[in-house]
Amino acid sequence: MSHKVVLASGNAGKLREFQQLLAGVGFEVLPQSSFNVSNADETGTTFVENAIIKARHACRETGLPAIADDSGIEVDALNGRPGVYSARYSGEGATDESNNQKLLQELVGVPTELRTARYHAVLAYMRHADDPTPILCHGTWEGVILTEARGDGGFGYDPLFFVPTHNCASAELDKAEKNRISHRGKAMQELLQKISRS
Ligand code: IMP
Repeated sequence: MSHKVVLASGNAGKLREFQQLLAGVGFEVLPQSSFNVSNADETGTTFVENAIIKARHACRETGLPAIADDSGIEVDALNGRPGVYSARYSGEGATDESNNQKLLQELVGVPTELRTARYHAVLAYMRHADDPTPILCHGTWEGVILTEARGDGGFGYDPLFFVPTHNCASAELDKAEKNRISHRGKAMQELLQKISRS
């Protein structure tokens, strides 16, 4: 028998990845769009809070267990910004393009050795809306912010995120390799292990 779990995201790519990951351990992952779940207000100041807010909201509106993720990029020369505000970094109506432009501008004149950054992804799995012990997973991925965009894969900050272990931008990696080594990939592996043990 499979256990139904709602994914608190509207992203079709993420849905596919979670479905593949969790099918083997008896979970049927359903998109929150099938239940007309409204968007939760991401009012937290940490990835952990926002992931829990989104998962709790999906549990409450569907009556099912839910998984949510919250992610972003932390840039050392900017004291950790944009962080939890990564999607909205360049303000109202922000796009990947405008966010990347703003990041390049803020780092003008900053030398390579000080352009270090990392992606974070936090996953929250909640069995019900009042679950007092959500399963939390956290993955990180270290990189360096480039001075110009490279590659056309990925999304978000990937064209500016240089991956020293692979000597290329994240947007130049193939999808499977990015999923294997990225912050989200690592958090998902941790989730798989914790869910199989729970
Ligand atoms: P969220 O959807 O609220 O978690 O916002 C995540 C934001 O962080 C995205 O809009 C991107 O700007 C950035 N981000 C997170 N993960 C990645 C990634 O793997 N590549 C590029 N950008 C990412």
